[in-house]
Amino acid sequence: MSKYEPMTRKALITGITGQDGSYLADFLLEQGYEVVGMIRRSSTLNFERIAHIQDKLTLVPGDLLDEVSMINILKEHRPHEVYNLAAQSFVQTSWGQPVLTGETTALGVTRVLDAIRTVDPEIRLYQASSSEMFGKVQEVPQKESTPFYPRSPYGVAKVYGHWITINYRESYGLHASSGILFNHESPRRGLEFVTRKISYAVAKIKLGLQDKLALGNLDAQRDWGYAQDYVMAMWLMLQQDQPQDFVIATGETHSVREFCETAFSYLDLDYKDYVIMDERFMRPAEVDLLVGDPSNAEKTLGWKRKVGFQELVSMMVQADYDTLSSQIK
Ligand code: NAP
Ligand code: GDD
Repeated sequence: MSKYEPMTRKALITGITGQDGSYLADFLLEQGYEVVGMIRRSSTLNFERIAHIQDKLTLVPGDLLDEVSMINILKEHRPHEVYNLAAQSFVQTSWGQPVLTGETTALGVTRVLDAIRTVDPEIRLYQASSSEMFGKVQEVPQKESTPFYPRSPYGVAKVYGHWITINYRESYGLHASSGILFNHESPRRGLEFVTRKISYAVAKIKLGLQDKLALGNLDAQRDWGYAQDYVMAMWLMLQQDQPQDFVIATGETHSVREFCETAFSYLDLDYKDYVIMDERFMRPAEVDLLVGDPSNAEKTLGWKRKVGFQELVSMMVQADYDTLSSQIK
C-alpha cells in the first residue's frame, strides 16, 4: 500500500447513478471518504441505485459533454481522486448513436483529463476502460499487452479513452490509471444488458408474468464477474505509488446459453421452453469470446474476485424474484 494518505479523502465519481458508480460510492463511504457524485440534468430523477445512501453524498450537476461543468466541480470540491465511470455504456446503442457515444465515451475522457490538468494535476484519476476494446480477440486469454481490435463504436470510443489517459499520464505526469474491466454484473445491472434481461425474465416467467424471452446471439462468451468485487480494484489502482493499467477479470468464460441454462434451472425451469431467437438483438459485428487474465492485478494490487459464476447468476435471479414477488403481493 502506498504512503498516499490525504487527511480527509474526497472522491468525485462521474456516473454515480449507474451500476458501478453506486457500488463504488458504497465502498468509498465505508472507507471514510467524502463522496461527491456528478449527475446530469434530467426531467425525472433516476436515483434508484443510490437512494439508500443519498443523504451521505454530495450530488452536483455536470455532464461529460461540458468541460466547463467539470472544471467548476473540481474547483469547488477539490477531490483527491476522480473515478470517471460515466459513459454511453450500452454496446448495441453505440451503432444507433455513434456520434453521441464518441462524444461521451471517447472525448468525455479528454474533458475529464484536461479539467484535472487545468485545476489540479495532483488529482488521481481512474478511467473505466473495457474488455470490449479487445473485440475480435488477438490472444486468449486477454491481458494488458494484448492488442486491441474493437468491434463496435463503443469499443472504438473506449480505445480512444484508454490511449488519451495514457497520453495525459505521459505528457503531463498525471496519476491516471485505466482498469480494463471485463463484464461485471449485479442485481443493480441495467435491464438492457443480457444477464439482467435474463434474470428478470426468469423471475417473471416463474411468477406467471411473462411467457417467452427473446434474445440474440446465444453463443457469445463472456468473462462475467460481480460488480461489487470490481469496484474495489478501481480504488486499489489509485492507492498505488505509480499509475498503471490493469486487466480485471475472473479468468473464466461462459456463453449466453450457459447463463440461460443456469438462471432458468435455479428456479427449476428449462430455458429451451422459453428462449426464442430474435434478429433485433443480433449485432452488426459481434465480440465472440472474452476471457481475461487477472494475474497482474492479483499480484500487484492483491485483488481477487470473491464471487463466482454460479453464485452471481443465483444472486441476480433471486434478487429479481424477491422484488417482483413483493410487488405482486
Ligand atoms: P451504467 O450503469 O450504464 O452507468 C453509466 C453512467 O454514466 C450513468 O450514471 C449515466 O448517467 C452516466 N452518464 C452517461 N452519459 C453521461 C454524460 N454525458 N455525462 C455524465 N454522466 C453520464 O454503466 P456501468 O455498468 O456502471 O459502467 C461504468 C463504466 O464502466 C462505464 O464507463 C462503462 O462503459 C465501463 N465498463 C463497464 C463494464 C461492465 O461490465 N459493467 C465493463 C467495462 C467497462 P444516467 O444515470 O443519467 O444515465
Ligand atoms: N444486451 C443483449 N441483449 N445482449 C445479448 C442479447 C440480448 O437480447 N442476446 C444475446 N446477447 C449477447 C450480445 O450479443 C453480447 O455478445 C453478449 O450477449 C453480452 O451483451 P451485453 O450484456 O449487452 O454486454 P456487452 O458485452 O456487449 O457489453 C458490456 O460489457 C462490456 C465489457 O466487455 C457493457 O457493460 C459494456 O459497457 C462493457 O464495456
